[in-house]
Amino acid sequence: MKPASDRAEFAAREASEPKKLFIKSFGCQMNVYDATRMADVLAPEGYEETAQIEQADLIVLNTCHIREKAAEKVFSELGKLRQLKEERQARGQSTRIAVAGCVAQAEGSEILRKQRAVDLVVGPQNYHRLPDLVRESVSQPVVDTEFPVEDKFDHLTAPSDEKIRERGVSAFLTVQEGCDKFCTFCVVPYTRGAEISRPAAKIVAEAEVLARAGVREITLLGQNVDAYHGMGEDGAIWSLARLLRRLAQVEGILRLRFTTSHPNDMTDDLIEAFADLPALMPFLHLPVQSGSDAILQAMNRRHSAQDYVRLIEKIRRARPDLALSSDFIVGFPGETDADFQATLDLISEVRFASSFSFKYSPRPGTPGAELPDQIDEAIKTERLYRLQELVERQRQQFNASLVGQITPVLFEKPGRHEGQVAGKSPYLQPVQVDGRVELIGRQVPVEIVRCGSNSLFGRLVDPGSEGAA
Ligand code: 5AD
Ligand code: SF4
Repeated sequence: MKPASDRAEFAAREASEPKKLFIKSFGCQMNVYDATRMADVLAPEGYEETAQIEQADLIVLNTCHIREKAAEKVFSELGKLRQLKEERQARGQSTRIAVAGCVAQAEGSEILRKQRAVDLVVGPQNYHRLPDLVRESVSQPVVDTEFPVEDKFDHLTAPSDEKIRERGVSAFLTVQEGCDKFCTFCVVPYTRGAEISRPAAKIVAEAEVLARAGVREITLLGQNVDAYHGMGEDGAIWSLARLLRRLAQVEGILRLRFTTSHPNDMTDDLIEAFADLPALMPFLHLPVQSGSDAILQAMNRRHSAQDYVRLIEKIRRARPDLALSSDFIVGFPGETDADFQATLDLISEVRFASSFSFKYSPRPGTPGAELPDQIDEAIKTERLYRLQELVERQRQQFNASLVGQITPVLFEKPGRHEGQVAGKSPYLQPVQVDGRVELIGRQVPVEIVRCGSNSLFGRLVDPGSEGAA
């Protein structure tokens, strides 16, 4: 039990002054989206977000469990937070520390045992209960990692227009959660649970709220987003393609994206959407993980390297300007030099505009962690380096190929220097142009004149477009 004085003080503050909230997110875009929803659900409780952690009355660590380092980082971060909590306590200020996200789901009450400064552990399915949990945590630490029967999205608070505007013209929107695929390296089916799709009407309503407040680009999120099969507005089950076509009709939405997909769920209607839905950006993140059939099979990916290459050819036929990105894992148990070479060969054949690549990290409870033939760390390091060098060359070549071309840019924020404005190309490349901030929220054609190592530089094709509404 916490001392009664602590409780009384917290209850008094609860009722009076506004409180400060600091959320630190690790890991994927789903966590970035969840952080916004946590802030939204805590706003009516008087919690206002701060960028200064020292000022926070409530600190939420929104954690990721996908690789070892991510979980380690959480515990080292919690050590620092304990110190901060003690310093604030010495000044008479109380601080609640909450651990959310996938480490919270996987480790539950173990977190309270490992770090006593933690007041509250909450799994991703329970964020709608945060206000209650924060209140309960005043008297004793609480853990909520149940998979509830109710739909958390129904109980999450909608953000204010002002909040949406602050967050910018590009927004995430979760449409699907969880995964039933059970790739042998992955914790997601255990931490995020079975696959569920949100009903289309709720997604459309959320998109309309975002668009009315100025959002122009929406990225649909899901651990297995292309497996989306939600209840449609007409009562039938909608695919992701059907949902995208509907969202393209929402007034104000200029661009749609989705991530992350599994190759086996890239259905023909989704490929067709790339061909005839202009709002769907010609950029696809489609993880292949490995180019070796033996490793793909050991990973339980349920497709071959050739299946992936053929699929890419098919999507490129539908959308010739499509750029690709992928996730790769090097050093999965049993990966030989020849297996790794097959991954490099696949990369050379497909060509990627960007990628994420990781050394295999055995996750407790997953089948991969039990496999014999775990690969030496030094070999993983060397393979990762070689793979990243190859993809980096492809990325630079792709960026350079845009120089001299005219491409639509959606402007998002003021540029690095006075008189500049920054946006994104259809391929997620940052683009800087000389122009006024009035361009923010608009998509206009830009001629790319130069490419730096991370950004493109361009000029407005029609400088007159700057002023127009
Ligand atoms: N080790 C290394 N990388 C992993 N990923 C998922 N689990 C592991 C693991 N155990 C990578 C995959 C996945 C991405 C989100 O993280 O490449 O697509
Ligand atoms: Fe994990 Fe993706 Fe495989 Fe699902 S499909 S188990 S989320 S890697």
